[in-house]
Amino acid sequence: MKIADRIASIPPYLFAELDKRRAQVAARGVDVINLGIGDPDRPTFPGIVERMRQEVVRPEHHAYPAYEGARSFREACATYLSSRFGVDCDPDREIMAAIGSKEAIAHLIWAFVDRGDVALIPDPAYPVVRAHTLFCGGEPYSLPLRAESGFLPDLEAIPAGVARRATILYLNYPNNPTAAVADLAFFERAVDWCRRKDVLLCHDAAYTEITFDGFKAPSVLEVPGAKDVAIEIHSLSKTYNMTGWRIAFAAGSAAAIRALGVIKTNTDSGPFTAVQMAAAEALLGTPPQVLHEQNELYARRRDVMVEALRAAGVDAPRTRGSVYLWCPVPGGESSAAFCGRLLEETGVLVTPGNGYGAEGEGYFRISLTVPDERLREAARRIRDARRR
Ligand SMILES: Cc1ncc(COP(=O)(O)O)c(C=O)c1O
Repeated sequence: MKIADRIASIPPYLFAELDKRRAQVAARGVDVINLGIGDPDRPTFPGIVERMRQEVVRPEHHAYPAYEGARSFREACATYLSSRFGVDCDPDREIMAAIGSKEAIAHLIWAFVDRGDVALIPDPAYPVVRAHTLFCGGEPYSLPLRAESGFLPDLEAIPAGVARRATILYLNYPNNPTAAVADLAFFERAVDWCRRKDVLLCHDAAYTEITFDGFKAPSVLEVPGAKDVAIEIHSLSKTYNMTGWRIAFAAGSAAAIRALGVIKTNTDSGPFTAVQMAAAEALLGTPPQVLHEQNELYARRRDVMVEALRAAGVDAPRTRGSVYLWCPVPGGESSAAFCGRLLEETGVLVTPGNGYGAEGEGYFRISLTVPDERLREAARRIRDARRR
């Protein structure tokens, strides 16, 4: 049996490795608190579950779904984009349903990266983009995200020769893993750069609805003319606590949507139609107050953890978006050594920053998606470990 070379071309998936580590420590009887993965602890909002209950029994949903998504779902996406961001998208040409944003992002890479093409990928970043670039025989070009620049890449520093070979620029704000946010002015510069260099801008909007302290995240599609060069991937996973439902949508450039559609029609058959109906309910029927209260909850958790980390000598920033904290490792230890030691000494699992790229070395990521009492317990253990 010969396994394709591309399988060996990427490191093991970060979260699968962490899970092994967690299981080893738990097997010794340690009560492990997993702050490693960004999977919301709260259930999907009841109105969405109720809509699913009604839709799942309808036989017309039991056949293959429409490849591009049900028209009524795409219309709901368009209405959502218009009311939330003031953005107009044509449901027929500029919107496509996806089986989670991981799927959409991965397939977009296949639609845009040929062997030898360059994909411009922030470092650190959500690991899927780099992995699929390597699968395609493309070259990932790292754009360092550094604290001193607010974890925004310096696009003008990309060498002309690299830009000429680039076909896609991936961005994600609010950001995983750095929790940084971007304003519309940054997106304007990114759209302008992509237009000048003839590169597709893919904005991963997985966390636009999870923001704090009055910050409201913009859509890249708010930039006039963005649809000429940009596509944005919206996930319902984190906002509506729907990670298990696998539902997202892509919106923007009609050419990019068409190209993505070619890969998808040859790969999958679209999300379960009943899930799309429930997702439409999520997008249009969730009262703003519900999302506001959820954001307040995450902000409170952030404050609890930031205070504990600071007491433990970690210079933890107060973030304005996403469900993560991105913190510098104290005392010059490596990310892996610090996270390993924290797990051994306290039973608290956090992710080493270098798992998201070389620039993540010296950082670790904490996820706020565990129940309050577990988060408080983790905070207490971290504080106590420092005193010992
Ligand atoms: C930045 C980012 N993009 C995409 C995803 C994938 O989300 P989903 O496939 O559930 O929509 C995640 C999940 O953690 C993420 O952090």
